[in-house]
Amino acid sequence: MKLAEIVPWGRTLTEYQLMFGLTDTDLSKRILGVGDGPASFNAQMTAKGYSVISVDPIYAFSADEIRMRITDTYQVITDQLNANAHQYNWTTFRNVDQLGSERMEAMNLFLADYEKGRSVGRYLNHSLPALPFADQSFDLALCSHLLFLYSGQLSERFHLESIQELLRIATEVRIFPLMTLDNQPSPYLARVLDLCQQHNLDADIVPVDYHFQKGAYQLLRIKHKSQ
Ligand SMILES: C[S@@+](CC[C@H](N)C(=O)[O-])C[C@H]1O[C@@H](n2cnc3c(N)ncnc32)[C@H](O)[C@@H]1O
Repeated sequence: MKLAEIVPWGRTLTEYQLMFGLTDTDLSKRILGVGDGPASFNAQMTAKGYSVISVDPIYAFSADEIRMRITDTYQVITDQLNANAHQYNWTTFRNVDQLGSERMEAMNLFLADYEKGRSVGRYLNHSLPALPFADQSFDLALCSHLLFLYSGQLSERFHLESIQELLRIATEVRIFPLMTLDNQPSPYLARVLDLCQQHNLDADIVPVDYHFQKGAYQLLRIKHKSQ
């Protein structure tokens, strides 16, 4: 991945809790954040004493490089959001300016934690569909705003291989949202559900309390069946 291809935009722990329906028990699990980018999830969880490892190709870059890219792309992202404002519910966030300043706060928390977290292995430069972890290293893998959302850019095969990989390394996988960037249901969801059935996995579509992108009100939870 080249620095110029990155469009950094990071969410908070509160947003992860709502997007993934995280309970107190969930927070105490060994969690893998997949494509966490500049989200403050890992920083805030670590500050509370929880265990999260985040993987993302942007962790190939230094804090200064990521900070520079955030500054360079901020206006482009907020202009796009203003142009597409009708695709979102402006309830939790009143408008694009408020959303932008909350995202900047989250990304600043991430940046303040990043070099230390990288030095202790909490931010790792790895990419789906292959992640170099042993089988069942994590209790829970969370994937926010990557799989399904980028169905136009990432193929069905990429989705199937990535989800199989996540199930190899984690007992449970949660993915949010299930909609594409164009606010359409992902065309790959049915195929992923078929795959789960073939492999005797428990797959559920679960309503969530995070209602920002219109129609994106559900997550996919996949678990290994208990023996
Ligand atoms: C829209 S951002 C979401 C960031 C964060 N999860 C959040 O919700 O705030 C998507 C992230 O996926 C990362 N990404 C792109 N391709 C990836 C891959 N093959 N494996 C893992 N992460 C990837 C990007 O670098 C980016 O940080």
